[in-house]
Amino acid sequence: MIYPIFVCPGEKVRTEVSSMPGQFNVSTDNAVQLAREAEKAGIGGILLFGIPPEKDEVGSDAYDENGIVQKALRAIRENVRDLLLITDVCLCEYTSHGHCGVIKHNDVQNDPTLKLLADAAVSHVRAGADMVAPSDMMDGRVAAIRQALDSDGFTNTPIMAYSAKYASGFYGPFREAAGSTPKFGDRRSYQMDPPNAREALREIALDIEEGADIVMVKPAMAYLDIIARAREEFDLPLAAYQVSGEYAMIEAAARAGWIERERIILETTTAIKRAGADILITYYALELAKML
Ligand code: PBG
Repeated sequence: MIYPIFVCPGEKVRTEVSSMPGQFNVSTDNAVQLAREAEKAGIGGILLFGIPPEKDEVGSDAYDENGIVQKALRAIRENVRDLLLITDVCLCEYTSHGHCGVIKHNDVQNDPTLKLLADAAVSHVRAGADMVAPSDMMDGRVAAIRQALDSDGFTNTPIMAYSAKYASGFYGPFREAAGSTPKFGDRRSYQMDPPNAREALREIALDIEEGADIVMVKPAMAYLDIIARAREEFDLPLAAYQVSGEYAMIEAAARAGWIERERIILETTTAIKRAGADILITYYALELAKML
């Protein structure tokens, strides 16, 4: 299991995400605390997302050696040993327009974005990340990141690629947490169309060809068929991401007294595992580790 953490500027900050009760934007000191908790719980790793102090057109904080995630990584690395530190590599949390790539003529530019993503990945690993997880869905980014890591000497650092990432309504609460809702348009030109199944297999095959070490299907609950098909087709480790909207739905229904919370948490995560996921990224990771 992998636990996602949203790191924000400041000290002693712990702001609850209103659409994700129980999940917080935390400053570095509190991120260290959460990492310690994750280590103690014995989960596989944490996945860091950065909420920078300032956003700009080109997402500069994403690849700044003193960016929000880079600083958090150094602090966590100093305090926590037996925990895999993974970083989300994307621009949308860092750009003023909220898109995952750079914009020209009101459109996301695939190729000029690749260099920035590669720079972000290298800066994360230099700051202590054990693995990088590109979530932007630009074409060719796994190869670009692999090449950049290799030429910086990080030949052994693995890439967990968000390979089949759908343009989903389930990311709403995350975008509230990260302030990353696109200011215009949507992500449908780079994320996948929900009715498409075989395209997911093509996307996964491309990422593997480019050098991905772990591939991912996202979201999870509404895409169990894709997880199962990916499991049949490919023999790389397969990750699935139970995303913010999935978490929010369970929490909301539980609060209303309409479902049994713990039972549903166990049932949904069991289903994701049953479908074929080896690795589960979930906001329930800490709690589940204790439950199990
Ligand atoms: C960044 C990114 C997103 C998520 C993970 N990485 C949001 C998006 O694509 O809009 C979503 C995670 C979640 O909803 O829990 N591109």
